[in-house]
Amino acid sequence: MQRLTFYVNWCNSLSVSVSMSGCQPLCFCLDAQLDYTNCPPPPGPTPWPLVGNLLQMGNQIHLSLTHLSLQYGDVFKVQLGSLTVVVLSGYTTIKQALVRQGDAFAGRPDLFTFSAVANGTSMTFSEKYGPAWLLHKKLCKNALRSFSQAEPRGSGASCLLEEHVSAEAAELVRVIEELAAKGEKDCDLKGVDPVMPLVTSVANVVCALCFGKRYNYNDKEFLTIVHINNEVLRIFAAGNLADFFPVFRYFPSPSLRKMVQHIRRMNGFMERSIEEHINTFDKNCIRDITDALIALCQDREESEDTSSLSNSQIIHTVLDIFGAGFDTIIAGLQWSLLYLIKFPDIQDRIHQEIDDHIGAARLPGFSDKPKMPFTEAFLYEVFRHASYVPFTIPHCTTRNISLNGYFIPKDTCIFINQYQVNHDRDIWGDPDTFRPDRFLGHSGLLNKELIDKVLIFGMGKRRCLGDEFARLEMFVFLTTLLHGLRIGNVPGQELDLSADFGLTMKPHPYRITHPPPRLSVL
Ligand code: HEM
Repeated sequence: MQRLTFYVNWCNSLSVSVSMSGCQPLCFCLDAQLDYTNCPPPPGPTPWPLVGNLLQMGNQIHLSLTHLSLQYGDVFKVQLGSLTVVVLSGYTTIKQALVRQGDAFAGRPDLFTFSAVANGTSMTFSEKYGPAWLLHKKLCKNALRSFSQAEPRGSGASCLLEEHVSAEAAELVRVIEELAAKGEKDCDLKGVDPVMPLVTSVANVVCALCFGKRYNYNDKEFLTIVHINNEVLRIFAAGNLADFFPVFRYFPSPSLRKMVQHIRRMNGFMERSIEEHINTFDKNCIRDITDALIALCQDREESEDTSSLSNSQIIHTVLDIFGAGFDTIIAGLQWSLLYLIKFPDIQDRIHQEIDDHIGAARLPGFSDKPKMPFTEAFLYEVFRHASYVPFTIPHCTTRNISLNGYFIPKDTCIFINQYQVNHDRDIWGDPDTFRPDRFLGHSGLLNKELIDKVLIFGMGKRRCLGDEFARLEMFVFLTTLLHGLRIGNVPGQELDLSADFGLTMKPHPYRITHPPPRLSVL
């Protein structure tokens, strides 16, 4: 039960709507504009008293819910503790909900953990879906785009974002080489655990992006930020009773108290950073996303925009970006390295593409991505096969709605099962096989129709804001790493491709072998 993680937790504060689940016919009558009287509620397994279907979920919720979709179809209902959740599966059904009926499925449930984390002001977790939220997301998108395309500071990079990513990726190669050399001398442990170097490099990209700062790997402030972020995610993933049963909100557990403490420390750091930015702001020199957001607020004042968003709300968007652009990329790279050492022939093909298109004289950049279809296909296959973000952030319905002939009342918590789509036999044929070639047509180019079916960034109104950015960042990290290194499995190490369920699923720990240098530009 402890391991029933964040996604389950997210849903419990809908207890009010749950307690109404027995009165759905009443809801039909209240909705004057639409007649759903012929639509039954979604089917689902019979809930037990108090716990509902919680005990049937086991540790691997994504697998249990995928299994239930075989029995109950693309739209079914489960009871998690005191909450009703409607689970959506199937590419067509999910597209129908999130794109064609996008407004009706674009809400976020009003959850205890969400508001604890985001202090009630987050664009990602807290705000009600409506005109103010739409404006907020647009502003945030503009800030991210305008900043990431800003002029580089000095390298030959095409933009500032590429400059940051390339610098960190090169540093990552150096650190892995250093660790490998040190490990050979000092200890008996074979190989290198890539997690800490990956965490620090990716954290540095997002710190540079959000706060205009890069840190040394041993910097105290930096290690505190990384530690707090990891701790908050760990406590989230462990779940706690306050999320399952509302009464426990009033008697917070030690872990919940610790999480709130961590969040306060993090908020303190952010507040200091934002204040520093406001004091030193120069609209002719936008240093990072915080500056880009401050500039947006100033433009708004000049154009007397009277929208319902406060300046503080806009500037605090930097927190949404910081939180989202961290763990998802680290997990993606952890999975990528695991697949590379599990399938050395696939690594050979990426090396070949690097040799053919980039060569030894320069490092990879963003513009290489479209010219390296096999490497891109590899990344899509990692997203699909690992499905390491198995569900989107939970959605909720913004009004009464019917889907596939079933009635779903307003304010119902919705889980989108991305894992199920990525392992749907009807789409993929052999979903359990890791095979990047499935994405390449006869011409050797990417099959656009098929890559669209890989679900990892959500879709529609709530689609990930950083998807393009994330794919570019992962591409440059991966190719820079393989430009400099060949990585291998440690002799005798069993490689396990399974993962424990979580918000972002990580592979089980593994080590990579001492990498002999490859191309010499680094
Ligand atoms: C491989 C890396 C990433 C993955 C797999 C990923 C995945 C996701 C998913 C599944 C969602 C929820 C979609 C939904 O609720 O329907 C999301 C939301 C979001 N992501 Fe990402 N993400 C990644 C990287 C990033 C990066 C790098 C950024 C920012 C620079 C970012 C910013 C956001 C934001 C702001 C949201 C909230 C959107 C909203 O609530 O409307 N993500 N992401």
